[in-house]
Amino acid sequence: MNSIFSEIEKYRIVPVIKIENAENAVPLADALTAGGLPLAEVTFRTDAAEESIRMIIGSRPDVLVGAGTVLTIENVDKAVNAGAKFIVAPGFNPTVVDHCILKNIPVIPGINNPSQAEWAIERGLEVLKFFPAEVSGGVKMLKALGAVYNIKFIPTGGVSMSNLNEYLSYEKVLAVGGTWMVKADLINSGCFDRITEMTKEAVAAVNSSGCKS
Ligand code: 3PG
Repeated sequence: MNSIFSEIEKYRIVPVIKIENAENAVPLADALTAGGLPLAEVTFRTDAAEESIRMIIGSRPDVLVGAGTVLTIENVDKAVNAGAKFIVAPGFNPTVVDHCILKNIPVIPGINNPSQAEWAIERGLEVLKFFPAEVSGGVKMLKALGAVYNIKFIPTGGVSMSNLNEYLSYEKVLAVGGTWMVKADLINSGCFDRITEMTKEAVAAVNSSGCKS
């Protein structure tokens, strides 16, 4: 498995972030790190995404930063230029996926059905985002897909403290993704201590689940 995926697997939770103001990027990275999760998927849902990725990587090189909600090859190029180590997309866009493969950047496209899984397998991908996880059938649907395909998943969308271990206890789940500990209003109002606290709670929940750490 690609070393970036092994690193994600070590943490088991990928905080999915929407930053409106790039000035919050480094304090946010510090808050996550203090909570035990020195990694982030910075989504291209705001104009501040590219700059936020650049700022975190420039001042906190040990934090594993990827780009999320990547919808175009322009987003891929911006993310890669800013230093992103992996690309996540909500869906399977063959243009975007093939561009990432060409650029040799690990890509995690979103899927929620067998056909999409097969497009990914055809391209040799190892890890897929299962999105939107809960409304797509949750763990039950994921196990149905996992029974057929030899790939690992990052379920995202509706994952929270109440269900993260349901997902993480399935052996084909590499990690879960989510916004629950990094809600945009907490970031916008500078509640970084609260983010650290919620991150610690999430990490503790994983570690006490008996799942691999
Ligand atoms: C994503 O972009 O992956 C989702 O918006 C995250 O979903 P959540 O807000 O339910 O965690």
